[in-house]
Amino acid sequence: MGLMSGKKVVIFGVANKRSIAWGIAQALQREGAQLALNYQNERMEGSVRKLAADLPADTFLGACDVTVAGDIDRFYDRLGREFGPIDGMVHCIAFAKHEELGGNFVNTSWEGYQLAQQVSAWSLVGLAKGAAPLMEGRQGAMVCLSYYGAEKVVPNYNVMGVAKAALECSTRYLANDLGPRGIRVNAISAGPIKTVSAMGVADFSSLLDNMAQKSPLRRNVDQGDVGNAALFLLSPLAAGVTGQTLYVDAGYSIMGA
Ligand SMILES: NC(=O)c1ccc[n+]([C@@H]2O[C@H](COP(=O)([O-])OP(=O)(O)OC[C@H]3O[C@@H](n4cnc5c(N)ncnc54)[C@H](O)[C@@H]3O)[C@@H](O)[C@H]2O)c1
Repeated sequence: MGLMSGKKVVIFGVANKRSIAWGIAQALQREGAQLALNYQNERMEGSVRKLAADLPADTFLGACDVTVAGDIDRFYDRLGREFGPIDGMVHCIAFAKHEELGGNFVNTSWEGYQLAQQVSAWSLVGLAKGAAPLMEGRQGAMVCLSYYGAEKVVPNYNVMGVAKAALECSTRYLANDLGPRGIRVNAISAGPIKTVSAMGVADFSSLLDNMAQKSPLRRNVDQGDVGNAALFLLSPLAAGVTGQTLYVDAGYSIMGA
């Protein structure tokens, strides 16, 4: 019996085998969860279907672009009909325009600011609203992915740092709203990991080098480290934990100098 045997979890944000969402999917699958995977659009469908070929045949796959009006409702409607009630929801979605992820934050455009907030922060609220009715009476749990740039200035992270601050704050408000319905909501603040999205941040490799040299564990974290932490937060082992941001960063965030 795995930690997640008999549990159903929907995961948003799988793009390819480097995605943090895929690391989480693998940890959940290893512990017996039945999975539903979302991909953003047709362009992503092929790579996600290829990955899902390694998962059991009852894995649900569906498209949802959080910026397309009605997509979230359509996704959950189909999920409810074809996959049934759920015990977990994982939010691994973020986006900002390339030009907003480098240079001076003061140059952030309104369009870029708005888009980063919509995709990277508001989408947690929209996806939580859709997931909650499917979790009714099941002690459900939700997890989203943040980064240290939410609380401290990280060069080039810029508009995404502001969006992550909103994401972490949304986590706390959602935890308070949904707690009386037995639903927990937590965030993971992960250290830098080489993924497609991360490579959009200017000079990203220096963040990796810095963490490997300066974190207490003197290493970077990977998709497996985050997958295991998400597994914990989604499992009954974390039944008393909600509204928190858990650092999976080799201890980097405790350092003052
Ligand atoms: N890689 C890192 O260093 C790192 C560190 C901390 C937190 N995170 C966070 O982890 C999460 C996953 O990112 P990742 O690094 O695995 O990169 P990734 O590129 O593999 O995943 C990002 C996902 O967001 C999805 N997405 C973007 N716009 C969307 C939209 N409009 N609708 C639906 N989906 C959309 C993409 O399709 C993709 O699947 C993000 O929230 C990211 O900010 C990443």
